[in-house]
Amino acid sequence: MKKLIGPFTQILPLTELSLKGALKDEQLHIIPQGGVLVEDGLIAAVGDFEQLRSANPSAQIEEITGDHVVLPGFVDCHTHICFAGSRAKDYALRTAGKTYLEIAKAGGGIWDSVTQTRAADEATLTELLLKRIQRHLAEGVTTIEIKSGYGLSIDAELKQLKAIKAAADKTHTTLIPTCLAAHMLPKDFNGMHQEYLNHILQNLLPVIKQQRLANRVDIFVEESAFNTSDALNYLAKAKQMGFEVTVHADQFTTGGSETAIKARAVSADHLEASTDYEINMLAKSDTVAVTLSGASLGLGMVYAPARKLLDAGACLAIASDWNPGSAPMGDLLMQAAVMAASEKLCAAEVFAGLTFRAASALKLNDRGILTKGKLADMQAYPCDDYREILYQQGKLKPDKVWTTADLLRL
Ligand code: NIG
Ligand code: FE
Repeated sequence: MKKLIGPFTQILPLTELSLKGALKDEQLHIIPQGGVLVEDGLIAAVGDFEQLRSANPSAQIEEITGDHVVLPGFVDCHTHICFAGSRAKDYALRTAGKTYLEIAKAGGGIWDSVTQTRAADEATLTELLLKRIQRHLAEGVTTIEIKSGYGLSIDAELKQLKAIKAAADKTHTTLIPTCLAAHMLPKDFNGMHQEYLNHILQNLLPVIKQQRLANRVDIFVEESAFNTSDALNYLAKAKQMGFEVTVHADQFTTGGSETAIKARAVSADHLEASTDYEINMLAKSDTVAVTLSGASLGLGMVYAPARKLLDAGACLAIASDWNPGSAPMGDLLMQAAVMAASEKLCAAEVFAGLTFRAASALKLNDRGILTKGKLADMQAYPCDDYREILYQQGKLKPDKVWTTADLLRL
């Protein structure tokens, strides 16, 4: 069954943009009065609406009225939205002058979310997750990576990953789970970092593999979490077990992105503290540089050097880091638009970072651009010019969002 959706004032398929490096808006290929032909949930063609209509007379038409600009659905390749409770107290302490690391050292921070998430049952976590997923989907995010990391025990990490799996069965958004049991050292392993990581390697990762709960593993490399040599060993072993790996890197101090590259991680995420040394290394590597402007906004910190990373030739993705601590806002487009104004990123760079470049950080090559054979995950903004989207700094939201899963059911 074929379905033709349109006409749209502008379609930006993003097919012409490179995977790495700086881009210019002049490179954007814009299809005016365009249509998207969908067959069995996948894109069959993108082009002029009237031409597609005459070439496909039997296609069902979903007629679009009013001006709309179409983009691929966004891929949020870094979130921590499986949590219970709030950290509004931490936020108030931070605006009163305490730092994120000071709050963590005093027993708050991530540990506070661990306590609240451990106390919630799986069904409650699934329900909380689904609300956040629905909000993201309404804002054009059709693929969401979701980390565990607020359990920090075998049972509580499994509970989080099972809640993510249960949510995946109840939404048309694609969810990509990641095990972040190495988020910080749990209190009962006081001082014993290697022992904790070995415990995870021996007793958690095999269960995750066996129950197919995730195929990605993340670690927070930072003075307050895990050091580079423990991380490298952990990541190498996780890789041997068949996991893809990713790193929370260079958020406050450096070391993490170099570890990520050595471990051949799919991505190094955060990078607020990265210097020219790390920037050049990332640019030369296949590791995607993921910037998380939501964490900069939440912590009142500098942005990652997105402009420099692009100019050096890196593959730059932009993700929300949505979590109860450092990035409570969770509005991916707003965060990207606001960072773009400071970092001087053009629309092509922002849209690439939110779509196919982010998909590559998740090793997904079936989405993020609008062309034949790709998923029909896409979104339409009620405006007549793509430039309105960043100009309105996140306040202009899509009024229509499609996923392949929705379209298959029609
Ligand atoms: O990506 N930096 C470490 N982890 C999260 C924050 C988690 C939290 O504060 O709850 C981050 O910013
Ligand atoms: Fe994070």
